[in-house]
Amino acid sequence: MERMDLFPQTARVEGDGHLWVGGCDTVCLAGQFGTPLYLFDEATLRANCQTYIAALAEAYPAAGEVAYAGKAWLSLAWLDILAEDGLGLDVVSGGELYLAQQAGFPPHRVHFHGNNKSPEELTLALDWGVGRIVVDNHHELELLDALAAQRGVQANIWLRLSPDIDVHTHTYRKTGLLDSKFGFPLATGDAASALRRALTSPHLIPLGLHTHLGSLVYEVEPFVLAMHAILDFAATMADQHAFVLRELSPGGGWGVPYSEDDPVAPIERWVHAVSLAVTEGCAQRGLPLPKLILEPGRSIVAPAGLVLYTVGSRKDIPGVRTYVSVDGGMADNIRPALYGSRYTALVANKADAEPAEMVTVAGKYCESGDVLIKDIALPPTTPGDILAIPMAGAYNLPMASNYNLALRPAVVLVKDGHARLVQRRETYEDLVARDLCAIARSPSVGSE
Ligand code: LLP
Repeated sequence: MERMDLFPQTARVEGDGHLWVGGCDTVCLAGQFGTPLYLFDEATLRANCQTYIAALAEAYPAAGEVAYAGKAWLSLAWLDILAEDGLGLDVVSGGELYLAQQAGFPPHRVHFHGNNKSPEELTLALDWGVGRIVVDNHHELELLDALAAQRGVQANIWLRLSPDIDVHTHTYRKTGLLDSKFGFPLATGDAASALRRALTSPHLIPLGLHTHLGSLVYEVEPFVLAMHAILDFAATMADQHAFVLRELSPGGGWGVPYSEDDPVAPIERWVHAVSLAVTEGCAQRGLPLPKLILEPGRSIVAPAGLVLYTVGSRKDIPGVRTYVSVDGGMADNIRPALYGSRYTALVANKADAEPAEMVTVAGKYCESGDVLIKDIALPPTTPGDILAIPMAGAYNLPMASNYNLALRPAVVLVKDGHARLVQRRETYEDLVARDLCAIARSPSVGSE
């Protein structure tokens, strides 16, 4: 795969060597909005949503839904697009629920996940009429039962199951193993006891089962195994307790390539494999086909996003390494430091120049681990050049921090030559906005 293929689908290099996305010159956008700047290409966002919807409709005509996993990236403008394009939404916190409310997102299309939802969060979800609450553990089952009883309502729930299936990804992103904080294990009998408990409650309607194996996975086989494991469980529960599996979700987790060496991962491959596993698995066990709900996050937004940085200082250590520092780093993208994630880059104002030297792109924050890209061939850069890193649309901004009191970056949506600022850059005032004890400074006691 070529470096350019990792940029959004509207990306091209113009005659002056500038990188354009969504009909906009990225070098001009960097000048206009400042850097670090996150750009999202609306055409790629919508195309990825439609690829999921069309692939699911084709491979699983019975009934399906694509519920975007909001943790990958959320903003009000993006929620508008999701609502318009007919997707559902997976949220994992009161904060994400609140944002969905603010966007006027249809609550019946929201699924609420999380391994330690608070009574306040569950109350918010019940009061707002969230479509599905995905119950993760026995404590939550009791809590939700009591809260629903207090309100005299019935909550539509799924149970999150832990099938003990491994995937090839970073350990921190594995969620389907027995040794995981998420879900009711199938192996221990907890899944069965939880479902029995839910079936006896007049306030809980167990509509479906869910699992999520992990994130950034390139193989379909674990997902197929997981669907069969859950259908086995559903069939047993159907026999023993007349349980009807109306809805089923394999979670999300499908991978994307981050650099030229990563595997290509067409969305259709995952959708087809999961759909086939459920269709065949139900036929084998004599189960009616449930509604199939997919929860992709990264594979929708990562390819649509890129980040622009301005190149600043340079440090040559002869025979060792050349560091080129940019004006962002681990505060807006913790992924290289946390998971060893590998990215690639283009110099946006010299996108057609030969990558003639090997450098390491460092961030500006006070940790030696603040390296965005170790060893990348780039054209020789000078201060003021604009570095563009693709595949930056997922889990960068949501995991951003104010480390070193960095200002979280601005976000611009580009489409057909128009650039819309959808999230302003933080300001120094924002940094002190939550501090409550503004002490008028006076010379401290004892000082001259
Ligand atoms: N559904 C559930 C229940 C999840 O926990 C997740 C992600 C998804 C869906 C969406 O997975 P995706 O399609 O985006 O892979 N911070 C990590 C990724 C953590 C993923 C957490 N759960 C990273 O930057 O790689």
